[in-house]
Amino acid sequence: MCGIVGYLGDRDGLDVVLSGLRRLEYRGYDSAGVAMPVEGAIEWRKRAGKISNLEEEIAARPLPPTSVAIGHTRWATHGAPTDQNSHPHVAGRVAIVHNGIIENHDQLRAELGDVEFASETDSEVAAHLMLREVESGKGLVDAMRAVVEKLEGAFTLVAVDAQDPDRIVAARRNSPLVVGVGEREYFLASDVAAFIAYTRDAIELGQDQIVELTRDGVNVTTFDGAPAETKAFHVDWDLEAAQKQGFDWYMRKEIFEQPKAVSDTLLGRLNDKGELQLDELRMSPELLRRVNKIVIVACGTAFYAGLVAKYAIEHWTRIPCEVELASEFRYRDPIIDPMTLVVTISQSGETADTLMAIRHAREQHAKVIAICNTNGATIPRESDAVIYTHAGPEIGVASTKGFTTQLVACYLLGLYLAQVRGMKYGDEIAALLSELERMPEAIQKMLDAKSTVYDLAEELVDATSVLFLGRHVGYPSALEGALKLKELAYIHAEGFAAGELKHGPIALISQDLPVFVVVPPKGRDQLRDKVISNIAEVRARGARTIVLAEADDEEARAVTDTLIELPKVSTLLQPMVAIIPLQLFACELATVKGHDVDQPRNLAKSVTVE
Ligand code: F6R
Repeated sequence: MCGIVGYLGDRDGLDVVLSGLRRLEYRGYDSAGVAMPVEGAIEWRKRAGKISNLEEEIAARPLPPTSVAIGHTRWATHGAPTDQNSHPHVAGRVAIVHNGIIENHDQLRAELGDVEFASETDSEVAAHLMLREVESGKGLVDAMRAVVEKLEGAFTLVAVDAQDPDRIVAARRNSPLVVGVGEREYFLASDVAAFIAYTRDAIELGQDQIVELTRDGVNVTTFDGAPAETKAFHVDWDLEAAQKQGFDWYMRKEIFEQPKAVSDTLLGRLNDKGELQLDELRMSPELLRRVNKIVIVACGTAFYAGLVAKYAIEHWTRIPCEVELASEFRYRDPIIDPMTLVVTISQSGETADTLMAIRHAREQHAKVIAICNTNGATIPRESDAVIYTHAGPEIGVASTKGFTTQLVACYLLGLYLAQVRGMKYGDEIAALLSELERMPEAIQKMLDAKSTVYDLAEELVDATSVLFLGRHVGYPSALEGALKLKELAYIHAEGFAAGELKHGPIALISQDLPVFVVVPPKGRDQLRDKVISNIAEVRARGARTIVLAEADDEEARAVTDTLIELPKVSTLLQPMVAIIPLQLFACELATVKGHDVDQPRNLAKSVTVE
């Protein structure tokens, strides 16, 4: 939510910041702006709407060359997405960009007395406070320290001072910020994608730290002024991975990357003996054996991955497993203690609700394992251990390879717990692991059959409502299929547990309503028979049935208008293949409807405010 970029070096600062903003646009696309210190004054341009609007503005009113610049792409919280409410906010010789929410902004506005505000944002107070501090004679770092003392809430704040043009100062609390380190050039960004074209060397910043960029290097201190420990890391993907590579949308590219993403997540996690090795857990087998409850906490798509994980983890380990929306977790006073293992799932590693849930869990002395795709993000930093998913950058706002790789990480964790606790014998774990290793092939099969789904998208372009049904792990698959459609095609879509149909949702069934149904594999016949009866029930009421079932499932075929063939996989692993056509369908339907698939309306990739 909101993307921030800063640059100090020898290149054209405007070029670097604009290219960074383009890579961060997925974080928010309500407005964009840049500012730079030039000859004792701040020059800036900002515009509501996408970065292309800002680029038009700059083309019409060019900016002078400079090698120090900051920029911002906004997802609006306080104040409508207008030119005035766009960042940067400029106060005299100072310009700031902000990501987060300043909760006490009303009180700070009042304290600023006669100051005239140009916007309705919470952020602008920070610019005026900063000006007051530098005008009192403080350097930019001390001014930042004084300002952050006053702020309540979440912020990444970046500032430049026209009278000290070779310095950028930033502060971070509860919102992401990383430093990129090149040859005599330095970058600040909400996400490494912003500077990946220039360097893959980065520094993680901790909570409540201030970073100063000058021509001499990077200096990091705490809010109290003490030198801070930092952690350098090397980004394990490159610019190529952050490009569309011939696809029309990042999302489509990311869907097609899933075979590789899944195999990368599995890589190196099996030893020569065919046993699972999760060294990164840094938790002793004794501790894992003592765990008596697992609570999975996540939001959105990651939450649905958690719902699948519950079925697998309970089945394999017999440890009770709850799955909870992160936004609900800490507010209901959950029962957790040092024997509880909290597992958080987050692609971005920056989701505020999930982060707050982690803090709550750790206050209750529970151990926290994060499943995350983003190296150095806040969630893994604040967890006891992390299983990285290695999916590569996910830029499309709707999560796809994030989901399937989260499933893999959950399966690995469940099987590892089973292995450590001796709940399953070697052969069974080995069989499941080898099936997981064959998953990339199974996913590829689903991708190769894309034309059935694309044709369906053409046929259903005028649908105003679509239902998704499933049982067991097919239920979270249905929920995720519906979420993809809502966020991309902007049509009513709902996922239901098929067994609930007769308890209410069947009233929605009408002539021609498209209903997608995920059928469990053959061999799970009790479950499968029930789902097939559900399909017959909706079909009898005139709905159009689109059924995801194994190719040789004749009973399913008999009640199907359109069959999407699934390869033969174990029931618990089925969501990894069943979700592929649902992702493709949502992507294609949104494309046919002429929507922006990568930047759906009102959404932002990384939800860094609660
Ligand atoms: C949906 C989607 C969101 C995210 C959710 C959690 O396509 O992307 O529902 O899954 O906001 O995000 P992360 O995984 O970054 O914590």
